[in-house]
Amino acid sequence: MAHGYLRHLSAGTRLCAVFGQPIRHSASPAMHNAAFEAAGLDWAYVACEVDPTYLGEAITGARRMGFCGLNLTVPHKLEAIEWVDELDESAKAWGAVNTVAFEAEVDGEWFPVGQIDPTGRAIRSKGYNTDADALIRALKEDLRIEPRSARVLLLGAGGAARAAALKLADEGVLELWLVNRTIPKAQELATEISHRYPAVTVDVGYPESDVEIILNGTSLGLKSGDPLPLDVDRFPLERADGVYDMIYRPAVTPLLTAAHAAGCQTANGLGMLLYQGAAAWELWTGRQAPIEVMREALGREVYGGPR
Ligand SMILES: NC(=O)c1ccc[n+]([C@@H]2O[C@H](COP(=O)([O-])OP(=O)(O)OC[C@H]3O[C@@H](n4cnc5c(N)ncnc54)[C@H](OP(=O)(O)O)[C@@H]3O)[C@@H](O)[C@H]2O)c1
Repeated sequence: MAHGYLRHLSAGTRLCAVFGQPIRHSASPAMHNAAFEAAGLDWAYVACEVDPTYLGEAITGARRMGFCGLNLTVPHKLEAIEWVDELDESAKAWGAVNTVAFEAEVDGEWFPVGQIDPTGRAIRSKGYNTDADALIRALKEDLRIEPRSARVLLLGAGGAARAAALKLADEGVLELWLVNRTIPKAQELATEISHRYPAVTVDVGYPESDVEIILNGTSLGLKSGDPLPLDVDRFPLERADGVYDMIYRPAVTPLLTAAHAAGCQTANGLGMLLYQGAAAWELWTGRQAPIEVMREALGREVYGGPR
């Protein structure tokens, strides 16, 4: 506890959490707790290892225990759609839930429990997606590549990649290629994109042409010894301008090392984590997120100091 984040814990402390498996790599507690402290809020954020078999029970448990909100990470973002009481438009549009806000009913209207006294009131869980907007902002800031009119090779078809693919299509990418271990999941996603965004050309498999962006939305690279998430014999990294890895810990994945060596611009997922976290924080607290405090906390957590 180098930064004393827990010093405000009391019987009245409001709680938030991230559920995932694995979860020990998460930098979200450092980011959110620093923001609570900066805002003078008696709130705390913890990381919970949740087996996917028990995701529904864990969300219900948090609701019953008066938690204000949750983040969901690998492998829960798709399944969570089944386990929340309400879906925000963002979760419906991007097809995955990475943020849950618990809400209490007051005179027929619903308010985040973190912003009122929920004692004795009906509580529901509402699922949001704050990943999609965060990714676009991070791509523009960190890679300095405009996704609109870009050709993108997207690796993965899980919760994060699905939201990314739909959002990129919505942004007006020129062409999208989807590569995933489980090919039918990529095909299903491609079909959905073709229906919803007929102007976007979408294919399953590796591109014939060069691309502006390779985006890793798989969890390959989280564990040491993981193979690269793409087959470089089929698509050499030299054929991409920029490579964005949604993974932020390790800060430099084998994919980013190889991409840097191939002369690509590179960025890890820290910017995306920051912006999705700030949006979740605002949903829970109703306040403006202290972005620079959160950025600095992430820098300390992942790099051991600001970047
Ligand atoms: N920076 C951020 O803010 C941020 C936000 C969201 C996610 N992420 C990162 O994005 C990654 C994906 O998260 P998620 O929530 O989308 O997880 P998810 O829903 O569990 O999806 C995992 C994806 O990785 C693929 N995959 C997993 N193990 C694999 C293996 N051994 N070989 C090949 N492919 C494999 C899966 O393929 P199958 O479909 O074949 O299972 C799927 O496409 C994670 O690393 C997560 O940390 C970062």
